[in-house]
Amino acid sequence: MEEIELYKKFSKNMGYGNDRLRIWGEGNYGNIEGSGGEVSVAQVIGMRDVIKEINPKNILEIGFNRGASSLCWLLFSQANVISIDIDGSLSSGEYLKNCFWHRFTFYRINSLFLPSIFSLFNRKFDFAFIDGEHDTMHVRNDILQCLHLNIKYLLLDDYNNTAHSKHIKEAIKTFSHNYKIIKEIEICQGQALLELVN
Ligand SMILES: C[S@@+](CC[C@H](N)C(=O)[O-])C[C@H]1O[C@@H](n2cnc3c(N)ncnc32)[C@H](O)[C@@H]1O
Repeated sequence: MEEIELYKKFSKNMGYGNDRLRIWGEGNYGNIEGSGGEVSVAQVIGMRDVIKEINPKNILEIGFNRGASSLCWLLFSQANVISIDIDGSLSSGEYLKNCFWHRFTFYRINSLFLPSIFSLFNRKFDFAFIDGEHDTMHVRNDILQCLHLNIKYLLLDDYNNTAHSKHIKEAIKTFSHNYKIIKEIEICQGQALLELVN
């Protein structure tokens, strides 16, 4: 549980800041304090367990928001993390940069334009977290970009979310020859772990 307490300590310093254009998922269902409702203790534990199992070296994250998931990857692995968001809290980004230095980079960019910054990625990603826009077109784009980057493991968020599940599953189906589902995680809104087919 010490790890979760540590997570909470960092998380408290990651407010939305004045740079937020919109706020996601306000709510009160046992969330980490200061998180604005988008991550629960159970989710943090679930993501910690996934990242420890995969033990990646370089992570690409699509959908930063205020960095709740980035913080998981940075605290519970030794990996370098590049996170992108069309919006996303710059103050949280700066906070994580100050805490984790070279291990963390944030780009404010639309994932549709990811290929335009591929040349900045002088690293080989082995894990991606896909949690941007959840409609079929965007999720397809995000999986496609990960395929172009030859990323071995993908974790897709909101897999069982009532509003998004259908779209996410449709997008995953499009790539069934490229990525196979190796784990379905039932915690909160659900996540699916995909592995690249050789
Ligand atoms: C559910 S939130 C991400 C939450 C974050 N992963 C976490 O667990 O704390 C989704 C984020 O995706 C971003 N987003 C939506 N469409 C996007 C796009 N086309 N490219 C990049 N980011 C996008 C939104 O701005 C939002 O911050």
